[in-house]
Amino acid sequence: LYASQGEDRTNSMGVNLANDIDLAALAGKINAAVKPWAAGPLVPGASSTGPTVAVTSPADRRIEVGQWQAADTATVQRALANAVAAQPSWDALPAAGRASILEHAADLLEARMPEFMAMCTREAGKTLIDGVAEVREAVDFLRYYALQARRQFITQPLPGPTGESNQLQLHGRGVFVCISPWNFPLAIFVGQVVAALVSGNTVIAKPAEQTTLVGHAAVKLLHEAGVPADVLQFVPGDGATVGAALTSDPRVAGVAFTGSTETARAINRALAARDAAIGVLIAETGGQNALIADSSALPEQLVKDAINGAFGSAGQRCSAARVLFVQKDIADKVIGMLAGAMDELAVGDPGLLSTDVGPVIDADALKMLEDHAARMDREATLIRRVELGEATAHGSFFAPRAYELKHLGQLEREVFGPVLHVIRFDGDRLEEVVDQVNATGYGLTLGIHSRIDETVEAIAARARVGNCYVNRNQIGAVVGVQPFGGEALSGTGPKAGGPHYLLRFVTERTLTVNT
Ligand code: SER
Repeated sequence: LYASQGEDRTNSMGVNLANDIDLAALAGKINAAVKPWAAGPLVPGASSTGPTVAVTSPADRRIEVGQWQAADTATVQRALANAVAAQPSWDALPAAGRASILEHAADLLEARMPEFMAMCTREAGKTLIDGVAEVREAVDFLRYYALQARRQFITQPLPGPTGESNQLQLHGRGVFVCISPWNFPLAIFVGQVVAALVSGNTVIAKPAEQTTLVGHAAVKLLHEAGVPADVLQFVPGDGATVGAALTSDPRVAGVAFTGSTETARAINRALAARDAAIGVLIAETGGQNALIADSSALPEQLVKDAINGAFGSAGQRCSAARVLFVQKDIADKVIGMLAGAMDELAVGDPGLLSTDVGPVIDADALKMLEDHAARMDREATLIRRVELGEATAHGSFFAPRAYELKHLGQLEREVFGPVLHVIRFDGDRLEEVVDQVNATGYGLTLGIHSRIDETVEAIAARARVGNCYVNRNQIGAVVGVQPFGGEALSGTGPKAGGPHYLLRFVTERTLTVNT
């Protein structure tokens, strides 16, 4: 929304394509657009001797993407000391000054959109369309949080009924650790980091190991935009060592985390176990997202939205549709159309404009999906398995699939990839369906397809989810328009890209002066 938008063009999945860059010119050349690049800790005064990790492309493991060096213990300690020392003067800056740095970063990022898209394709296997959305969302976060900081971070005069002057001030909490996921290596990484920064915190950013190179490029851009080097430091490494060292350190005031529910719990325990001030955790985690369609749904629209929601971004979105509950009367028709639409999906090279579904992130993800598919092959009915396209032999490609299940209990956990599970339900069991979805304990996205207002209202009122979408797909929340984030097992709130997000990164102080 805040990034430049243009005329509407959509691909075969109904996804909006950017028109402000020449996608056709970029298509097919994406691998040549970026030379292998190197990354490592960005910590003033430290020189890491941590191990070096070689990165290859998820789309083709023969292609070298670059390499990065992990932070060693001394580097982590130095980063923490730098961040503590730098925080008071950063917090003392007027919020508008910090906001203008974010706006400058947004301009730089917009100008370098093709380069950052290419990096997302190389390291994360993002399709061109997802690459555009990724950069735009990062730009949106920069501009939106800058705007919110300008609006919200003002000293508020309060009533002085006894003649005293009172005011409410907002300050950064201290040092924030931002731990970001590989599925939005730029957008979520930048969103978390700049929310913490603009609120007056110093930040130590630890990206997902799989997408360290993109994170490094984002931090360099933020430095170029004017964030001082000791205010934003980059500390790559694995969760078990670097992540754990950061989240258990008493100098850390808070953690912004996006990833698995299990890891969020571990971070929460680590923060609580410290003999230190009570740390804040802002976590966005998983989902077991349903799409519920009654017999009044328009099958063509339902199928298009189910395909987009389940297979867009190779299903590697926490918002993705995992289970389609379809009312019995239309189930045969919808399942038939779903199978037909899946046959149209092009799976392959993410650098081609014609590709709908790219690779999954790595061999572990592929193994998890293959194990799940093997179980589904035994316990459920295969609706369709998409044929893999050319040039998939050397990458982590998983053929998108749809299965019909008898009941939700057959799904043990979130399956993070391009697999859609379909369950038929009786017309008079709608409430029961919503209760089953609620009972998973997750509460992230829900899709509803129905033309009956009472049905839509009843489902929306009963469902405990953060983002509910009616008669459209359930992915791709827009910053400032659809604040994003779930409840219960899906996250702590507040919602990213929403008006309350920054407020969790600050502490409130009241100043009373007897005049
Ligand atoms: N914000 C993304 C979406 O809405 C998921 O992380 O799809």
